[in-house]
Amino acid sequence: MKLKISIYTRLVFWIALLIVLLFGAILFVIQIREARILQDETEARVMLQARYIADANLLSLSLQDWQAVQKYVDEHISGDLNYIVVYDRTGQPAVWNDLVRDHREIVFESLLSDDMAPDVKESVIRRLTLREAPVRVREVEVFAYSQAAGRWGSVKVGWSLEPMYDRLRDIQKVLLLIGLAGFLFGIGAAAFLARRITRPLHRLVEGTVRIAQGDFSQPIVDTSRDEIGDLARSFNEMTGQLVQTRERMDDANRRLVQHEKLASIGRMAATIAHEIRNPLTSVKLNIQKVAEEEAFAETVRAHIDLSLEGIDQIERFIKELLNFTRVQELSLERWPVEQIVDESLKVVRDTLAQKDIAVERSCPPGLPAILADADKLRQVFLNVLRNAHEALEPGGTIRIACDAVAGEGRTMVRVRIADDGPGIPEKDRPNIFEPFYTTKPSGFGLGLANARKIVEQHRGSIAVGETGGPGCEFVILIPAAEEAA
Ligand SMILES: Nc1ncnc2c1ncn2[C@@H]1O[C@H](COP(=O)(O)OP(=O)(O)OP(=O)(O)O)[C@@H](O)[C@H]1O
Ligand SMILES: [Mg+2]
Repeated sequence: MKLKISIYTRLVFWIALLIVLLFGAILFVIQIREARILQDETEARVMLQARYIADANLLSLSLQDWQAVQKYVDEHISGDLNYIVVYDRTGQPAVWNDLVRDHREIVFESLLSDDMAPDVKESVIRRLTLREAPVRVREVEVFAYSQAAGRWGSVKVGWSLEPMYDRLRDIQKVLLLIGLAGFLFGIGAAAFLARRITRPLHRLVEGTVRIAQGDFSQPIVDTSRDEIGDLARSFNEMTGQLVQTRERMDDANRRLVQHEKLASIGRMAATIAHEIRNPLTSVKLNIQKVAEEEAFAETVRAHIDLSLEGIDQIERFIKELLNFTRVQELSLERWPVEQIVDESLKVVRDTLAQKDIAVERSCPPGLPAILADADKLRQVFLNVLRNAHEALEPGGTIRIACDAVAGEGRTMVRVRIADDGPGIPEKDRPNIFEPFYTTKPSGFGLGLANARKIVEQHRGSIAVGETGGPGCEFVILIPAAEEAA
């Protein structure tokens, strides 16, 4: 199985490694330079010391006054100056200090020879054990000479390098601390940088996972102006298009189901209606005849009236059902919408007046005309107005407002019919346009289903609007005539 390493981890690793390597390289160079400077400094100093001793003892050497030289040597051995060895003209050791008495390789081996130029200097590094401790020593030998007097021997000095190495170690410690701080800073900076780079990626991944799971509700939030931002924006665009397509598909599906439903109901209804209609008409005629000819008691007459009422209701139902299921071609003509509204109002005027329902209508002049089948559209307004009438208490109000709105690239004429009745409970809203859905004891549940069928035939829509208060509002949109195909 392949190990999954996140981009975050990889970025942290590589950035940290880069920073550490960079820091390490800089510190390494600094350390080498420091060491070189210290070594050069020490060598120059030892050289100067050797030259100084040689010059100071030139006279004693020329006189071969070894006592004076010994005295000088003993007096001047101190601190880091571990030893002084003075050689005579033949290169034989003449004077040295006590500390190196047992170190024959120091005392008896001169670094210089006669055939060398007088200004030659020799320098080596020795590892010795002095005072029972290991020491590294810079050893320098120079000739004791003057232009006038010539060569009188040579002077060798040994300078302890331990203080220099101590200083170097101190410098190394400081550099190591800086290196450690650099390492920690590197990790921190790497984590910070990696987070900055991967956070938008995370958001993008989360968003795409959400979309993959079918949740289109939230867009991917990414305002960055880089490639990830572009990707997020394209994703959001794609999601938007997906949502639209899904909505269109849902809508098409709903229409298809509705269509199928209506087709089967239609076939059934047509059969039932035909089967019932003729016997029902003869039943009705016969009862009416009986009611006319015989003098019945009051109670019997009441029963007969009830039967006639029942038959009327069945007839109305059959009529509504046939009306709903029959697919009829529209006969379209240009109409001002307010005229169809007014004609519908005229039909229900008396019924509304009986319940003392007021009607407020506001349709501004100059509205675009609609291409409509006026009879059918009237049925739509009538069904909605009848519902309002049924919902309202006496003294209620119906408000009708018409205007023109822009929708989906075309102008629509909008008719809003509102009442201040009890409104439609939230749970009923998804169903009210379904055929046979009713909350009324004597309702058929066909009024709104029929209204929607007609409106959709006109390529419009009908929906429940938000009143923001009590009552309910139906919003009907019909395309304006210029726009209709
Ligand atoms: N203005 C309204 N106020 C309150 N509820 C309403 C209103 N209009 C419609 N409804 C609700 O919507 C349901 C469906 O209405 P629809 O007109 O389709 O059928 P119906 O009125 O019950 O029967 P019918 O076939 O006789 O019209 C109603 O039963 C009612 O619950
Ligand atoms: Mg109704």
